[in-house]
Amino acid sequence: MKVPFLDLQTPHRELWPEIREEFEKAFYAAAFVGGPHVTAFEEEFAHFCGVSACASVNSGTDAIRLALIAMGIGPGDEVIVPAHTFIATSEAVSQTGAHPVFVDIDPITYTIDPKAVASAITPRTKAIIPVHLYGQCADMDAILDLAKHHNLVVLEDACQAHGATYKGRLAGSMGHAAAFSFYPGKNLGACGEAGAVTSNDLAIIQKVKMLRDHGQSQKYYHDMEGYNARMDALQAIVLRAKLKRLAEWNKARQRCAQRYSERLAVSPKIVVPKVAPHNTHVFHLYVILVENREDLQTYLSDCGVGTGLHYPLPLHLQKAYAHMGHKEGDLPITERVARTLLSLPMFPTLTDEQIDYVCDRILEWVEKNS
Ligand SMILES: Cc1ncc(COP(=O)(O)O)c(C=O)c1O
Repeated sequence: MKVPFLDLQTPHRELWPEIREEFEKAFYAAAFVGGPHVTAFEEEFAHFCGVSACASVNSGTDAIRLALIAMGIGPGDEVIVPAHTFIATSEAVSQTGAHPVFVDIDPITYTIDPKAVASAITPRTKAIIPVHLYGQCADMDAILDLAKHHNLVVLEDACQAHGATYKGRLAGSMGHAAAFSFYPGKNLGACGEAGAVTSNDLAIIQKVKMLRDHGQSQKYYHDMEGYNARMDALQAIVLRAKLKRLAEWNKARQRCAQRYSERLAVSPKIVVPKVAPHNTHVFHLYVILVENREDLQTYLSDCGVGTGLHYPLPLHLQKAYAHMGHKEGDLPITERVARTLLSLPMFPTLTDEQIDYVCDRILEWVEKNS
């Protein structure tokens, strides 16, 4: 049996008849940038996230960057981010001229540790970016309390958490603003690059809409310098069709995760993901912790099972951040998780047979190595 790490083709075959007509219309009208599908998607996605407004952009990275700029973050500011995330989170901070400050994560949810955030706050701190990693929300109440106390802004990095909830509140609705990625492999993925900023603060959304479009308030009248960071119409067509299925797809991911966890939790060698009691996890990724994970990864690969490492080298130890002077041991939980994690196949059309095959191979490997 072959189990790919990700299968985007199956849902695309199902979607094609629905999006084909709109694709054709947009193609022949040569209406590619902005337009009615983009506007409609912004309204529908804002509604999905339970916020008043959404500004579509061309990637999750630009969603973070433009949201930070719109909230006044810039040169000299410090922005606290978890060291265990994709580099886009911290890259976008640096691109505003601000400095990312890396902190450790919670050992249960692998999201930013509020205690570590509290210790990292300085007079230069202006913002916190909790990342809802793998599909599970960070401890937002603790973060929001700290932010209120220190007068900081909170930008949720919800790039992996479309539809996740924290104490009944949706990812993307809790901070001053939130950034989403619609990179193809995300729970809600485009057919190329796309992203969005959501917020209940209309001034932030308005500013992001200007920034994404060269700072224009009206055509060729530029209130400021901006960027070319707009979403194109073809992405909006795909995203509108997929958004209708997102809740159902997230449920399917949760069913897959439950089956994995039931099968794998029998082994003391495997740490299965834990969901904080106040969270609903949407399992963008299903990540186990296991010693000697490279060996397991090779074993699974030989058995036809695709896996991933998210992320093998923590950000504070990356060459790109060598100038910060971090060393191994600085952020022990991040480092332990990065050294032992392994992402198993996860997508809504994963079958019980495929999950059982993956679990059988993992348990077989554990047996052979004990
Ligand atoms: C946590 C996180 N933040 C930011 C990004 C950046 O999104 P994009 O790839 O759309 O720029 C990603 C996506 O890869 C992500 O997983």
